[in-house]
Amino acid sequence: MIVEVRNVWKFYGKLIANENISMYINEGEIVSLLGPNGAGKTTLVKQIYGELIPDKGEIKVFSKKATDRKVKKLMGVVPQDTEPFGDLTVWDNIYYIGRIKGLSRIQAIKNTEELIERLDLIDEKKKFVRDLSGGLKRRTLIAMALVNNPKLLILDEPTTGLDPEARREVWDLLISLKKEGRSMLLTTHYLDEAERLADRIYLINRKVILEGTPSSLKEKFSTWYEVIDYSSGKILRVKGEEELKKVIMSIQGKFEVKLPSLEEIYLEVIKDVT
Ligand SMILES: Nc1ncnc2c1ncn2[C@@H]1O[C@H](COP(=O)(O)OP(=O)(O)OP(=O)(O)O)[C@@H](O)[C@H]1O
Ligand SMILES: [Mg+2]
Repeated sequence: MIVEVRNVWKFYGKLIANENISMYINEGEIVSLLGPNGAGKTTLVKQIYGELIPDKGEIKVFSKKATDRKVKKLMGVVPQDTEPFGDLTVWDNIYYIGRIKGLSRIQAIKNTEELIERLDLIDEKKKFVRDLSGGLKRRTLIAMALVNNPKLLILDEPTTGLDPEARREVWDLLISLKKEGRSMLLTTHYLDEAERLADRIYLINRKVILEGTPSSLKEKFSTWYEVIDYSSGKILRVKGEEELKKVIMSIQGKFEVKLPSLEEIYLEVIKDVT
């Protein structure tokens, strides 16, 4: 297990941000945290990368305390609402973070060059970050998080504000990083993103509300099927397998049967607990 969170509570004064949260990340997994604004996702994530300390409970990352210096060297973080330093170039931002994380000069240069290429930042590498678009700043941040070749990547809303194409580029990058055996914790408000990328999902709203693979959540919480009848263009909501069979038998021509999307399930579940 790469990350193990056990019965964690975090308070801001009287406000309970995390209530008795337990979760884990296995090696090579992408785990996604979902939840409405103010659900306590960033608070939890900050404790996993050691910026905050739990008030109660325990967090182990690589079997050590999250604040351990050795752990920080194995981790790459893209925090929510941060930007690279505007007065440095893209290249310098990546390089200096590498040096801060303990890479030798030669290693930092090598990794920076590789990441500039991998993240398609060649044309931007000498530009000041303050002159870049939001998407390019985000890409620079991701490169910075990767400079120490981390085994665990923590990304707090890495695609918020990106256009659809840029989002997909980030997805492709995350998928290729997963193929290299890295583990990831990803918070997002995009349900399609979680569905596409995550091996497992935790839906949190102060505490853990649901946990499971995207498909198991869909199966468990889908109380209806969506049937699209292509010949008539109608979309039907059908409850139960028996009814589904009847409906399908009555359709002439092509049709499609789907379980509701994760987004529909999310909205239903959140409605019940808030
Ligand atoms: N430094 C702080 N001091 C006091 N309250 C805080 C602080 N940081 C967060 N909170 C509160 O704790 C709760 C959880 O916030 P958090 O940022 O963890 O939520 P989140 O799930 O990341 O939300 P979002 O989706 O908007 O990023 C919110 O009610 C928030 O207002
Ligand atoms: Mg947040």
